[in-house]
Amino acid sequence: MALTPELSKQAKWKEIAGIPLAAATVDNWNQIQAFKAKPDDLLICTYPKSGTTWIQEIVDMIEQNGDVEKCQRDIIQHRHPFIEWARPPQPSALKLGVDKANEMPSPRILKTHLSTQLLPPSFWKSNCKFLYVARNAKDCMVSYYHFYRMSQVLPDPGTWDEYFETFISGKVNWGSWFDHVRGWWEIRDRYKILFLFYEDMKRDPKREIQKVMQFMGKNLDEEVLEKIVQETSFEKMKENPMTNRSTVPKSILDQSISPFMRKGTVGDWKNHFTVAQNEKFDEIYRQKMKGTSINFCMEL
Ligand code: A3P
Repeated sequence: MALTPELSKQAKWKEIAGIPLAAATVDNWNQIQAFKAKPDDLLICTYPKSGTTWIQEIVDMIEQNGDVEKCQRDIIQHRHPFIEWARPPQPSALKLGVDKANEMPSPRILKTHLSTQLLPPSFWKSNCKFLYVARNAKDCMVSYYHFYRMSQVLPDPGTWDEYFETFISGKVNWGSWFDHVRGWWEIRDRYKILFLFYEDMKRDPKREIQKVMQFMGKNLDEEVLEKIVQETSFEKMKENPMTNRSTVPKSILDQSISPFMRKGTVGDWKNHFTVAQNEKFDEIYRQKMKGTSINFCMEL
């Protein structure tokens, strides 16, 4: 259905430093940038569609010592304030993510999709912990495409071929995957950053959850650890109304188009990329990631 310019989904998005963000985020940018981080904060950082919800549930399960009922206290979007969020329905109508964070007792667990370049500066001075999850660019791109399709508030992604070019150009919300991942990877030794990979979490969830547990300064029994592995599996989280976004109205996320918990696999890009697109992407990847030591697993 054609939309008038006023009603167009695009109208709700603006840019900061060339990076598309929600217009409401941009309109509240000074307040977001002035956010005061604290030394005992833990900030979950991801490029969109990299397994944010998954790592949030893992972190909350660890924080609650494996108590499933406590993790059912609220939907995942409300458990960890999303610092750059500035419009309904998340965290709650008309309340800024930074306001939610300010109301939260310490030690706080917060979430962001911001690149290093856009993060409120107090985070760098606070010496707090950062937990970054990276996902291989091709699967991330595919997941984001389906999210764009089902989201009723993001711009229309167009066809796969059109979206392919948009993603490469970095004109997607929260900007370029390449700049985001590179930025966080390059500073990983300068700050308290635990850098994880979605593919490692799929391959050996127990080992990766253990790393998170140690990073959070927790020491949980083997039995609790096993329970966290089970409870945070894709199958469990897909059925869990606190994590599967089923409480979000269809006018915002239309899960009949594509479910939020879609496939949860490594290598789905092979079902989307043509041979030519794959070659083009690999060449662009080589150029944009030149000089970095980061290495992604593309299939399991
Ligand atoms: P797919 O679209 O490839 O299925 P985010 O939370 O950052 O928006 O990321 C969403 C992606 O993570 C989706 O990928 C979703 O299915 C996947 N995901 C969510 N929970 C998961 C889990 N427990 N295990 C594996 N993947 C998960």
